[in-house]
Amino acid sequence: MTPPARTDAKNTPDWPAHGGRIAPLLARHGLPADHPVIDFSANLNPLGPPTWLGDWLAGADESLSRYPDPDDDRARRAIAAHDGVAPARVLVTNGGIEAIHLAAAWHAGGRALVIEPSFSEYALASRRHGIDVDRLALEAPTFRLDIDAAEAALAGVDIAFLCRPNNPSGTLIPRADVARLLARADDTGTTLVVDEAFIDFTEREERLTPLLERSRNLLLLRSLTKLFDVPGLRLGYLLGAPEAVAKLAALQMPWSINALALALAAPLLADRDYLARTRAWLAAERDLPERVRALGYTVPETHANFLLLRGGDDASEAGALFAFLLERGLLARHTHGFPGLDGAWLRLALRSSEDNARLLEALAAWRRS
Ligand SMILES: Cc1ncc(COP(=O)(O)O)c(C=O)c1O
Repeated sequence: MTPPARTDAKNTPDWPAHGGRIAPLLARHGLPADHPVIDFSANLNPLGPPTWLGDWLAGADESLSRYPDPDDDRARRAIAAHDGVAPARVLVTNGGIEAIHLAAAWHAGGRALVIEPSFSEYALASRRHGIDVDRLALEAPTFRLDIDAAEAALAGVDIAFLCRPNNPSGTLIPRADVARLLARADDTGTTLVVDEAFIDFTEREERLTPLLERSRNLLLLRSLTKLFDVPGLRLGYLLGAPEAVAKLAALQMPWSINALALALAAPLLADRDYLARTRAWLAAERDLPERVRALGYTVPETHANFLLLRGGDDASEAGALFAFLLERGLLARHTHGFPGLDGAWLRLALRSSEDNARLLEALAAWRRS
């Protein structure tokens, strides 16, 4: 889920800034509030939270009557073991979003580079911390990053944000290209932030964690909210050089991560059965983008659990497709808040095979009409 409406992106006034806000979208399309909807707009694990989580939370009331223990490093150690890094390289955060804001706070008053279209929070967090923002556009329809252009754009930049795989396009910058940018960042003294909030939904071979050993300028951001479908819990982390982690920890609010989230990191990451079921679901559904392409739609190559689809020649045609899907109970993510897409594309999450089949049927019907 994207955070509440606070976007600097160009929004058409009658489109809610965040696509996943179902009630205003139903109202906008003249549909009743109880219109049944399958949510393809949020990129969360469709398996739902692990089944044991409800009971765990019901028995966790004791944690609520104590402040989170600042010396409790179980979450940090569990994450370190999960990612194969030293605990000193880990900072647990209140969702990936806090990690983005901490990174920006570290470079307050400086200059940032953001790629567009991408997650709007990088520019928002930069602005909040008085950072001037340079923008580098990804060209439709492939949305691939031009590494030469990105390398050149790092000059004079204090902090650069990359999203891998990129929200909303799903494109994945190859590790070799990140390594090249990192070498350049070492020359320019730029902190390279790579937001990997959706990395657990990609094939795992191209992990960036080994690059942490090579440079002090790399920060990797991760989120547990997507993978375990717990966006309300707020749990994420960043990985970096121990000195950088210490600096960012000093910028963090006291008790930033609630006691439940802190206590849950280890059992969540230890749930091998859930992770295996997630991989099995992904393996079964990963052909959705190909099947959407086969219907005649333009869909860039995606390595994420979502796809971006060209909704027509312009925002008005995409809006008509959005309405057609919503009437059939399928909620897409509009793209009015993403500079460079400006409403002409729709983002759709991979869901269960049943839901995906309904989506394909509706998309085929739209082509026929
Ligand atoms: C690319 C990206 N990074 C980070 C986040 C924030 O995730 P979290 O729920 O962990 O704060 C989001 C949420 O939508 C996202 O799309």
